[in-house]
Amino acid sequence: MSLAEVDESSGTIALFPAGTSYVVRIEPDRGTVRHVHWGDRLALREAVALPAEPGPGDSFGDPWDGAEELPVDGGLRYGPPALEVRYADGTGPLEPHLVGFEVERGGDAWAEVRVNLRDAARPLDWTLHYRVHAASPVVERWTEYRHGHPSGADVLLVRHASAQWNLPVRSDYRMSGVFGQWAGEFALQRRPLAVGETTLTSRRGHTGHQSNPWVAIDAGEATETDGQVWCTATATSGSWRIEAVRSPEGRCGVICGAGHEGVEVSLAAGTSWTSPVSVGVYSAAGFGGVSRALHAYVREHVLPAPERPRPVLYNSWEATSFEVTFANQRRLADAAAELGAELFVVDDGWFGRRDDDRAGLGDWTPHRRRFPDGLRPLSDHVHGLGMRFGLWVEPEMVNVDSDLYRAHPDWVLHLPDRTPSVQRHQLVLDFSRPAVTDWAYEWLSRTIGAYDVDFLKWDFNRSFSEAGSHGDRRDRRAIFMEHAEGVHGVLDRLRRDHPRLEVESCAGGGGRVDLAVLARTDQVWTSDNTDAVDRLRIQYGFSQVYPAQVMSAWVTDSPNPMTGRTIPLRFRFHCAMAGALGIGGDLTRWSRQEREEAAGMIALYKEVREVVQHGRQYRLGSPDDLQHGVLYVSRDRSEAVVLQWRVGAATRTLQPRLRLPGLDPDAVYTLHDDSGTLGSVSVTGAALAAHGLPAGLPAGPYSSRLLRLRGR
Ligand code: GLA
Repeated sequence: MSLAEVDESSGTIALFPAGTSYVVRIEPDRGTVRHVHWGDRLALREAVALPAEPGPGDSFGDPWDGAEELPVDGGLRYGPPALEVRYADGTGPLEPHLVGFEVERGGDAWAEVRVNLRDAARPLDWTLHYRVHAASPVVERWTEYRHGHPSGADVLLVRHASAQWNLPVRSDYRMSGVFGQWAGEFALQRRPLAVGETTLTSRRGHTGHQSNPWVAIDAGEATETDGQVWCTATATSGSWRIEAVRSPEGRCGVICGAGHEGVEVSLAAGTSWTSPVSVGVYSAAGFGGVSRALHAYVREHVLPAPERPRPVLYNSWEATSFEVTFANQRRLADAAAELGAELFVVDDGWFGRRDDDRAGLGDWTPHRRRFPDGLRPLSDHVHGLGMRFGLWVEPEMVNVDSDLYRAHPDWVLHLPDRTPSVQRHQLVLDFSRPAVTDWAYEWLSRTIGAYDVDFLKWDFNRSFSEAGSHGDRRDRRAIFMEHAEGVHGVLDRLRRDHPRLEVESCAGGGGRVDLAVLARTDQVWTSDNTDAVDRLRIQYGFSQVYPAQVMSAWVTDSPNPMTGRTIPLRFRFHCAMAGALGIGGDLTRWSRQEREEAAGMIALYKEVREVVQHGRQYRLGSPDDLQHGVLYVSRDRSEAVVLQWRVGAATRTLQPRLRLPGLDPDAVYTLHDDSGTLGSVSVTGAALAAHGLPAGLPAGPYSSRLLRLRGR
């Protein structure tokens, strides 16, 4: 069946993303694109025959409310607009007029629908884009805005969303999001959606720790494994906004786009602006279903090199902090290689006069006293040990105490008549300026070449303030979006010119995790909090949106330097093995026994990482349960891995059985349990789903295990 079908007589356009349908209807007489259906699969003829939702029964209603694909400011519309304009004479309201639509097909692989609209009297055109890919239940949407005249005054886009996602009418709505703070990112919250407008946003110029541009809506009945869930994620690395609107009459729509309120786009005559992509996912298989669909989408359509296995990395930050020297990094590299690490990353402190966080950012040449012969000897040493060589960088920042700032004080975001708010002794460079991005590209490219750098940890350690731009552009607020586009541009150039390069996105931990940055990176630093107990909750929230392969997780020292919590090495490993495993402790202080145990766990991780990183993920309970876990099933279902954790001591031995979905029902799986509690078992996939396994973990607190299942 085709991915997109059209019924000309009714104006119905139906998209068929993997087992689901997304249907809109164009209504030329009203100049609107009306939402019809998003959910389980319907044939085009069924969609055409659907009766329209009843309109308002009184003169105070809004006939379009909650049912348009991109509601504008204008006409009988009273909800928040997805598109609002200010023309030069101060007028705003729009009168949309339908110009036409087209469907483009990429064979059986994808289909794109474009619906073109125009303001009836003023110079603005906009195109709604929809794209679907074979075998993915994801709809990609974005909007292109064009100043329709070759001359004339600028048009100001006050609101310029990517999309409004409309939900079917239900008697109740519930919203899920991931929220938090530095060192406590991705806490899942699931609450009834209040009547009114609920805004999730970043006003920081980067994606943010506080909230991530993802939201899921259900009717209050979905579970992890069952029920209808709709979710949307927007590909923005700058400021963003999601407005979930629940009307008093009972409709629900979600407006998504780049920029927070007041971040306007000024369109000069003849120019256009394209919003970021917002993706929508529907699943009838509960919250687990939408997560797996998003994970697969990230792998198949977002990541630049999804098939490359994530290496076991070592990072020096928690071991040596700013005190990196050739001698101590070499010692750590030797120890890391002995354990089986495949990538050695030198963190902050290797450059300029970076003795602490007060100086050096911007001066990206090796620290003279710490690396008197430059970085080459260390890079050679690391490569000689058979590991790849990685470097921490923070290209968007500058310390006031740096040669770069002394030479280019005008390169930072600032407003001439405002006192700059310094954070962590640093200011933000203006990456909307080509002079700045060219400078960044050049030193990064030079450094990668000079030291054979295989991996960059690209960090960003403060949010914007006084975010004026000293370019000659008039529109300063747009910097909250344009800075991030500048960052994307540098990353794209670096990847193009250094095809082997891999990149980790970091912003003081998980402050820049989004679909746009994932399109040019390989993994993200999930959180600066490496305490395994805290991490279980952070990782649980992270997994709602993003796949395990991008989730960088380190085993660090115990007691944990941030929380003081003492946790057994084995538990710390089992927690970090749920993503892209790394080591971040001071290995020179680990006992021989700890190092041997670590080497064994790393060897085991390498055996299972293909399944963990590239398999389908099923969450088994949540951190609110006494014990919980995660199941990963290989794409051909011949292998599976379960990781399970219990923080507190069990007060009773009997736990609900561990039922494992997603396996091949007919295959017989042989189990290996690294805690030894299960012994040797062979059982069918059907029995594992229907009946399950004894779930009890070994007695005592901080109990954990890894189960391997191999089918035949
Ligand atoms: C941020 C990162 C850390 C570390 C420090 C270095 O906080 O998240 O992992 O790299 O910066 O200053």
